[in-house]
Amino acid sequence: MKKILITGANGFFASRFIDFYKTRYAVTGITRRQLDITDLKQTVKVIKENNPDYIVHAAAISDTAMCQNNPELSQSVNVDGAVNVARAAAACNAGLIFLSSDQVYIGNTGRGPYKEDDEVNPYNVYGRHKLNAEAGILELMPQAIALRITWLFGLPERNKKINSNLVWNIVKSVMNNQPATFPATDHRGVTYVYELIENIEKMFQLPGGIYNAGSENDLNVYELAAAVLKAMGLENRIESLLLKEHRDKPRDLRINNQKLKADGIAFSSSEEAINKCIADFSFSMN
Ligand SMILES: NC(=O)c1ccc[n+]([C@@H]2O[C@H](COP(=O)([O-])OP(=O)(O)OC[C@H]3O[C@@H](n4cnc5c(N)ncnc54)[C@H](OP(=O)(O)O)[C@@H]3O)[C@@H](O)[C@H]2O)c1
Repeated sequence: MKKILITGANGFFASRFIDFYKTRYAVTGITRRQLDITDLKQTVKVIKENNPDYIVHAAAISDTAMCQNNPELSQSVNVDGAVNVARAAAACNAGLIFLSSDQVYIGNTGRGPYKEDDEVNPYNVYGRHKLNAEAGILELMPQAIALRITWLFGLPERNKKINSNLVWNIVKSVMNNQPATFPATDHRGVTYVYELIENIEKMFQLPGGIYNAGSENDLNVYELAAAVLKAMGLENRIESLLLKEHRDKPRDLRINNQKLKADGIAFSSSEEAINKCIADFSFSMN
C-alpha cells in the first residue's frame, strides 16, 4: 500500500481527505499539535520518520483576513512552513502536492478565466504568500505540484471542521432566516471539496508545476448563491434571502482549467458541483 502523509489533518480539507482515502492508502494525518511546520528541523524529522510516497501539504493559515492582519504569521506558516515541507519531501524523495489558491489572481485587472501563465500581482497578503510559496517550493522541487484552488465548499459532518463557504453560509441564512448580500458584479468559481479530494489521486502522476484546480464558472456570485437555493428546492426564498450588491470595482477570480483537462483531470462547473453536493447530503427541502 502506498503511503500518503497529509499536513493540516484537523482542517476542513484534510479531515475529509483522510477518511476518503484511508482504505486504499496508508494515510497519516499530521496535526499542528504533532508538528509545527514553521520548525524546519522537526518538519524534516517527522516527515522522514513517516517516509511517505506522497505528501499533500494542506496546513496553512487559510483565513485571508487573519493573514492580512498578521503578515508575519502568514509568512512563517504559509511561505516558510510550506518550503520546509518541500525540503522534507525532497529529503525523503516523496511526491508533493501543495494547496495554493485562486487568490493569486486577485490583483489581475483584466477579465478571467485566468490561465496559470497569466501575469499575477496579488494585492492581499494571503495571495502574495501563496504565490511566494509556489515559487519557493518549485525552486527546491521542480517535480512538485502546486494547485491553485478556488473557494471550497461542503457541509458539516461529524468530527470534521467546517469553514465558512458559499453553500454552508446560505444554509445558515435559511436556518436563521437572515438575508445576506452577494455581489452581482463579481465572478469566482467554487469547488465541491469532495470533487477536489477525488481528483488528488490522479494528480500524483502529473508533471511538476502549477495547475489551476477546481470548478470553472460563468455565473456571477449572486447567481451562484441563487443556484444553491434552487438546488435546495428553495427558489421561492431567493428574493427574500439574497440581496444583490453592485461593486464599483468588480472582482474576477475565475480559473481556466485547460491545463488539467489536457492531463485528463476534469471538474464539473460550479453550478453542477453545487447540485452534486446538495444531492450527496440529501439537503433538498422539496
Ligand atoms: N478552504 C478553501 O476554500 C481553500 C481555497 C483555496 C486554497 N485553500 C488552501 O487549502 C489548504 C487547506 O484549506 P482548509 O480549508 O482545509 O484550511 P483549514 O481548515 O484552515 O486547515 C488548515 C490546517 O492547518 C493547520 N495549521 C495552521 N498552522 C500550522 C502550523 N504552523 N503547523 C502545522 N499545521 C498548521 C491548522 O491547524 P489548527 O486546526 O490547529 O488550527 C488547520 O488544521 C490550505 O493551504 C488553504 O490555504 C483552501
